[in-house]
Amino acid sequence: MKHFTQFESKELGQELIDLALSYKANPRLDLAKGQGKRVGCIFLNPSLRTRVSTQIAAQNLGMEAIVLNMDKEGWALEMKEGAVMNKGTVEHIKDAAGVLGTYFDILAIRAFPSLTHKEEDVTDFIFGQFVKYSGIPVVSLESATRHPLQSLADQITIQEHLEAKKKPKVVLAWGPHIKAIPHAVANSFAEWTLGMGHELTITHPAGYELDEQFTKGATIEYNQAEALRDADFVYVKNWSGFNDYGKIISTDPSWMLTEKHFKHAKSAKVMHCLPVRRNLELSDEILDGARSLVQKQAENRIYAAQAVISTILG
Ligand code: CP
Repeated sequence: MKHFTQFESKELGQELIDLALSYKANPRLDLAKGQGKRVGCIFLNPSLRTRVSTQIAAQNLGMEAIVLNMDKEGWALEMKEGAVMNKGTVEHIKDAAGVLGTYFDILAIRAFPSLTHKEEDVTDFIFGQFVKYSGIPVVSLESATRHPLQSLADQITIQEHLEAKKKPKVVLAWGPHIKAIPHAVANSFAEWTLGMGHELTITHPAGYELDEQFTKGATIEYNQAEALRDADFVYVKNWSGFNDYGKIISTDPSWMLTEKHFKHAKSAKVMHCLPVRRNLELSDEILDGARSLVQKQAENRIYAAQAVISTILG
């Protein structure tokens, strides 16, 4: 594995899950593996979990992690080829990424979508520029279209809570929000859940259909109650319109899950990547109740990142 930017195969997915679980049992198992090596964690957007879990993962492998909040501390980057840089941008991506490629063994990048320039977003243009010009392995800390480290942690969490011999019903459930939110977590969760061979139902108000390249093979059920029936895992997430790109189409509060929504899914576990807007996207009673796996997912971010960095190191 050179880069880690998306789901590749069920075999690699399972290898990463198994390695992550061995690191969870013994975090310092491969302490010598990364000695003398550096990972650069470059954030063009805010983060809590991704930033800290990636740093801990690197430390567990004896590796140094250097974090740069590019959006706040770096030069304003120019992304366009051939641009005359006579406006606000100070450094071209090809120079910045090239330099970073000489400083690190692995580059990890977070670059959210604009939600206004669909063509740039769906091709992961900014993220791709770092891959193109750094010349070293790149790990996605969330791109415009995908959040694979989150999805790997989510699959680890599902595997840990699977009932033996039961094929789980997994549901991706849209929740309301007041802001336009990217599609990356939802896309990636669908991509990984289907890729790992699980049955997936996606439920959302009409108009919130995701990019079909991520949802092919899933059941789309507009009736939320029907989607939740007999569910084993319910992954709650908001996302903005994809066809009506970046738009808020509904804020209907009845889509926020509370205990009464689980009348026909008594043993369902509830997942969310965090951060979550409480009592808007998901209720306190669910987040603080026995169904919630959100803290376990966040903890598994460490071991997901550790398994990925370790595999890239070889
Ligand atoms: N889930 C997740 O990526 O969290 P952060 O945005 O805090 O890193």
